[in-house]
Amino acid sequence: MADSTKTATLSFGDKTLELPMLSPTVGPDVIDISKLYAKGGVFTHDPGFTSTSSCESTITFIDGDKGELLHRGYPIDQLAEKSHYLEVCYLLLYGELPTAAQLEDFESRVTRHTMVHEQMMNFFRGFRRDAHPMAVMVGVVGAMSAFYHDSTDITDPWQREVASIRLLAKMPTIAAMAYKYTIGQPFEYPRNDLDYASNFLRMCFAVPAEDYEVDPILSRAMDRIFTLHADHEQNASTSTVRLASSSGANPFACIAAGIACLWGPAHGGANQACLEMLREIGSVDRIPEFIARAKDKNDPFRLMGFGHRVYKNFDPRAKVMKQSADEVLDLLGIENNPTLQVAKELEKQALEDPYFIEKKLFPNVDFYSGIILEAMGFPTSMFTPIFAVSRTVGWVSQWKEMIADPALKIGRPRQLYTGHAKRDYVDVENR
Ligand code: CMC
Repeated sequence: MADSTKTATLSFGDKTLELPMLSPTVGPDVIDISKLYAKGGVFTHDPGFTSTSSCESTITFIDGDKGELLHRGYPIDQLAEKSHYLEVCYLLLYGELPTAAQLEDFESRVTRHTMVHEQMMNFFRGFRRDAHPMAVMVGVVGAMSAFYHDSTDITDPWQREVASIRLLAKMPTIAAMAYKYTIGQPFEYPRNDLDYASNFLRMCFAVPAEDYEVDPILSRAMDRIFTLHADHEQNASTSTVRLASSSGANPFACIAAGIACLWGPAHGGANQACLEMLREIGSVDRIPEFIARAKDKNDPFRLMGFGHRVYKNFDPRAKVMKQSADEVLDLLGIENNPTLQVAKELEKQALEDPYFIEKKLFPNVDFYSGIILEAMGFPTSMFTPIFAVSRTVGWVSQWKEMIADPALKIGRPRQLYTGHAKRDYVDVENR
């Protein structure tokens, strides 16, 4: 919201510009530079968008210094403790906590959309069996626009709503199918009598040869992992979804773009990379060696699951995740898990190390999630697909918010060009 009483003065060369300032509900003020080029003939330069707000949003707020994450104003720790994933999805999508009747209706709408078009099975079969499930998900989610034509017109609010529900409902089915395909087991159809998390676990772990009962402890832990990853304001994958959608592309194509971005090890791929790192460390006596490597400027190695662009105190999701990891391992009777022991000792040693203290590097959400997922029986290759399932509601909520905004413009950053100035073409024989 613009605050006409506040302006920022920018002077360069012989020019002085008064730039309007915008005040958020909470958080730092924002200088509106949208007319800077028109009025001053200059751009701003901010690689990685470390100081740039790209949109106005009412969905999620993060205070990185305080370690605070709010969805529609509600703190993540309260939501993780008292709410559950589909209720949080409703909150993110529609702005308020649902009444009992609204929640029932929403859950029933999501549940009735969990099956995927039968012909999509053929699409899966085109992939190599050893494909990474994220590669399969990028392809299959993008292909949804070829199966659900009746929800690709983004100018129609009803179609946008149907696309949102379809994406939320079908993503666990697609992720579970990607998993089943890579391990050579038959696909399991979704079951409407199960809740969202239990249904996902069943689709991943049941086989037609025997009955499968979902363990409520695992189902609760799964639901919590979904909840903790549901949204995280303008992170890389969400910004990718927004940028892709700003051209008017259909929602399935845009979410596929988000999945592709999430896959990277600096983002959602960190949970897989973190568990693989903990396994590689193997025992607590090797921790100093890996900490030394992480601090060595000549070694590209980083402690995976450590550090965050926004959190510079602690990641509130990591706190809940750590507690959840303890609970799950305890309840499953997994004692003395070597990976967990390495994780706990690594956290302790890194947090006491001046390098990590100085650079404000703390364990992030991905540090503990892998340990829980491994205890549940997931291979590391499924960690990032599970993140993608969880984050779908965040991507969809941000996409819906953006498309409904009358001020929507195609995203088109500028650049600081450092290549050649204009020069004449040289014929090949003269080069
Ligand atoms: N291990 C060792 N040093 C690190 C680490 C790390 N994990 N993270 C940052 N640093 C150092 C980095 O070398 C740099 O040092 P210097 O100032 O001397 O050059 C300084 O800390 C600042 O790092 P940066 O890369 O400029 O910070 P960023 O905000 O661009 O990056 C990050 C944030 C999350 C990409 C980075 O911390 C990282 O690569 N962490 C490991 C991957 C990871 O766990 N990612 C998951 C993020 S949370 C879930 C999600 O969002 O998907």
